[in-house]
Amino acid sequence: MRKMKLSIVVLSLISPLVSCGNADNSVNSTQWKSYSGDPVIERKVDSVLNLMTLEEKIGQMNQYSGNFAVTGEVAETKAGEYLKKGMIGSTFNTFGADHIRMLQEQNLKYSRLKIPMLFAADVIHGLETTFPIPLAEACSWDLELMEQSARIAAEEATASGIAWNFAPMIDIARDPRWGRVMEGAGEDPYLGSLVARARVRGFQGIETYKDFSKINTMMATSKHFVGYGAVQAGRDYHSVDMSVRTLHETYLPPFKAAVDEGVTAFMTAFNDLNGVPCTGNKYLFKEILRDRWGFGGMVVTDYTAIQEMVAHGFARDLKHATELAIDAGIDMDMISEGFVTYLKELVEEGKVSEKQIDVAVSRILEMKFLLGLFDDPFKYCNAERQKEVVMNPEHLKAAREVAQRSIVLLENKNNVLPLKKNEPKRVALIGPFVKERESLTGEWAIKGDPDKSVTLMEGLEEKYKDSQVKFSYAKGTSLPVIDRTTQKVSTTRVPDRSGFSEAINLARTSDVILVAMGEKFHWSGEAASRTDITLPGNQRELLKELKKTGKPIILVLFNGRPLDLSWEAENVDAIVEAWYPGIMAGHAVADVLSGDYNPSAKLVMTFPRNVGQIPIFYNVKNTGRPFDEDNPADYRSSYIDCPNSPLYPFGYGLSYTSFEYDNAKISSKKLERGGILTVSVDVTNTGTMDGEEVVQLYIHDKVGSVVRPVKELKGFKKIHLKKGETKTVEFTIDEERLKMYNLDMEWVAEPGEFEAWIASSSADESNHLEFSLVE
Ligand code: NOJ
Repeated sequence: MRKMKLSIVVLSLISPLVSCGNADNSVNSTQWKSYSGDPVIERKVDSVLNLMTLEEKIGQMNQYSGNFAVTGEVAETKAGEYLKKGMIGSTFNTFGADHIRMLQEQNLKYSRLKIPMLFAADVIHGLETTFPIPLAEACSWDLELMEQSARIAAEEATASGIAWNFAPMIDIARDPRWGRVMEGAGEDPYLGSLVARARVRGFQGIETYKDFSKINTMMATSKHFVGYGAVQAGRDYHSVDMSVRTLHETYLPPFKAAVDEGVTAFMTAFNDLNGVPCTGNKYLFKEILRDRWGFGGMVVTDYTAIQEMVAHGFARDLKHATELAIDAGIDMDMISEGFVTYLKELVEEGKVSEKQIDVAVSRILEMKFLLGLFDDPFKYCNAERQKEVVMNPEHLKAAREVAQRSIVLLENKNNVLPLKKNEPKRVALIGPFVKERESLTGEWAIKGDPDKSVTLMEGLEEKYKDSQVKFSYAKGTSLPVIDRTTQKVSTTRVPDRSGFSEAINLARTSDVILVAMGEKFHWSGEAASRTDITLPGNQRELLKELKKTGKPIILVLFNGRPLDLSWEAENVDAIVEAWYPGIMAGHAVADVLSGDYNPSAKLVMTFPRNVGQIPIFYNVKNTGRPFDEDNPADYRSSYIDCPNSPLYPFGYGLSYTSFEYDNAKISSKKLERGGILTVSVDVTNTGTMDGEEVVQLYIHDKVGSVVRPVKELKGFKKIHLKKGETKTVEFTIDEERLKMYNLDMEWVAEPGEFEAWIASSSADESNHLEFSLVE
């Protein structure tokens, strides 16, 4: 009996993943369920829809990148051609209140029914005031801060003509070879879901549920649906093959969280998922997103993703791909021109019903109504507001604070840091990142002007101008350059050792060496996968030479992914992971180095010892032969050439002060269904500075109908403690926190034994508690 039930469930979970999708006449593809649920808006949508020709409807589903007009003249391009037929529903990658006003005027001139265009953009971490890359921000574990940073990004974007943000990117990522780990919130689905919600709240800026009438509210996009973070071997755009369980346990939760937060749009992922490209995947968009989650917003493809289904080998040609995409429930085609070229033909041939098109167009029109664009198509085009809002001093101040809180202190041997202003010291400033400006905002700062970023050198000069600390500079080496045509590090610009001797001589005559190294900005981000995640070029070689001087070394890193720092961890004294900190980079790093800000960030992605350990993440399952340190001998799950443990675990990060966890308590050893347990620990600041600590709760379900991870993050609190102060940190545990997908893929808490840790990182097991869930 049980067997039969299981096979039905499993089949229903798996079969849609392998279905090809013919024209769909099922209820959900021909019935529009609005996002807002507001009958007034629904009537407005219907009234416009009823006036539209089929071509006009299809035009709404078409999205282009860039400018279709310059100074009021429609360009002689494909986009220009479609514009003149009133057949562009949305454009992205255009900026500026006046410029977008001009583009909207052109659109209205040619749109018979005066349907406003939606202007979109990738505002990933700030518009002109660039914030740290999202991966860095997530290391703050400060949800309010992330919301605030997203809000500022949205304030600037909406003041610059943008109504729709292609963010947040909420892909769980566990492979640092993949360059796009920099855009997300790391490896954990629990934290990732909370961050997704915070960022959706921040970007959309709605105070009353689904009310987008304010001038600074905008649409946000959950992307990329789904599994993109699990591309094979970390190679961008590659295939994704995962169990349905992993999909549901790990990769879907942030997307569900975004829906619960009221996100307005979804974007498809480039990859195929178990053989079906996401852009043509009915299981994802119909069964999960629409039917189970009840999402009523819009779905846009990723860039040329409809066309790419041909290269995937899923569609015969663009026409076939178009049919598959509409059938999967896609509303808007980014760039492929499949919808504008073939939808009409497909309707005439009876392969697509006009009803399906009506549903997609209704979703698009609803957004335009909700944003208030039918009332005022120029709502976001106020040049005065743009001047006041963009890069205002409050935003810059916030960017500096967020950057301070995103910087992770990985090593600090002998308390070499902070570098106090009142202690006389000669500091050798060495490395390609001391004066690097271009990379500080990372690869996705599309409107951030790199010339406005504060370099490390400038930040330090400002910070230490009246101090006892004196800096001298030698670059030492350069960053290697990638030749995009060959995908190889350019042979003409491989750094040589010619700068080494100057740097070494300078180091010899200094008290401390402060080295700034990392990855050039386009070494992470889209299409920037790496097979070697050590410091690029000869930066490590230079470090080895500097080490020979015997002087203490402080290494400040600027990069977009976890790196292999195994040599550095052993051989340098301090490591400061600054990521790409954004426009205020130099100031924020100087704040941390000087101790004016005591670092509080903790890793949200595991740092491996080397690429061979990848994928490596904290919430793994145990094996039947777990490694046993006391009996390491043989035939255990381990490597013969490397420990199992990572270099730096998830949740890890140091402070200039120290925290002690003590007195772990649990209110009862038994939790009844519907009941609540309290677990607590006393945290004391035992060091010499005030500081902040991220206190984490991990839980392990010891025996399950399916094997559970060795631990899972289930809560965290960031607290501030003055030196000497103690606070009791408490978490509640109820049945909800213990839920999992059981063998039958039901979301339940199974009775039995559990253990919990209240910990300073995922590797800290010193405060251990046990309890059981009883019927
Ligand atoms: C491709 C990227 O994958 C996606 O994240 C982005 O939003 C689009 N390009 C548009 O720039």
